Amino acid sequence: MPADRHAQSSKSAEERGLPGAFEGETVNRRRFMNITAQGAGGIAAAAFTLPALGFALGPIFQREPFSWQIIGTPADFTETTYVTKVLTIVDGISDAGKSIAYVRVRDPQIDTEPSDQFNQYIALSSRCAHLGCPVRYVEASQRFICPCHGGVYNFRGLVAGGPPPRPLDRFYTLQRNGYVYIGPRYSVNSELRRFSPRDPGEPLDGLGQYLYPSRFDTSVLPPTTNLPAPPAIPGV
Ligand code: FES
Repeated sequence: MPADRHAQSSKSAEERGLPGAFEGETVNRRRFMNITAQGAGGIAAAAFTLPALGFALGPIFQREPFSWQIIGTPADFTETTYVTKVLTIVDGISDAGKSIAYVRVRDPQIDTEPSDQFNQYIALSSRCAHLGCPVRYVEASQRFICPCHGGVYNFRGLVAGGPPPRPLDRFYTLQRNGYVYIGPRYSVNSELRRFSPRDPGEPLDGLGQYLYPSRFDTSVLPPTTNLPAPPAIPGV
């Protein structure tokens, strides 16, 4: 009964027989001190743990910044073979922040995926889509070979053999003002449909695209309005 419950809760501490209770008290001093001490302990624990949690989890939700980088002029690339280019993925950590891209001119005869301003140059990541070992382009066979577990990719970066679960990742590219720029990495499924970058070992066909979502910190395509200026030519 609600009325009974109210009567019960409004009884004084003395009436309820609590030890150390004074007449008329509804909360005795022992209980009051317990609540105060527990509250203060909770606040102190939160003061220590919340900043530590924020420090640990913050980077997970922070996107890796990425800027367009110049990798050459159109004359540096052809349709028939790949040119190796080094790009910076993370600034300020020397070689650890660098990555390799294999770059060539798009060939409409074989590159049948939809074309736009970001794939007039095909830039393939050297990181194997199986477990991330560096792949090597073998000119004689026009294939990319992974030395770790025998992964093989064809000229377009599609899986031709071995355990890789998806094609080689790609980088956005852009031609502006007489230069070729490279942008952030993206992943593709076996039809070369674009997806936000995934980690090695994560398939993108069928259910894979839902089972392995992109990490929160992956770079997004930067605007094309603020491209870095070409390097100054000495003496000009
Ligand atoms: S890492 Fe390339 S095949 Fe395993």
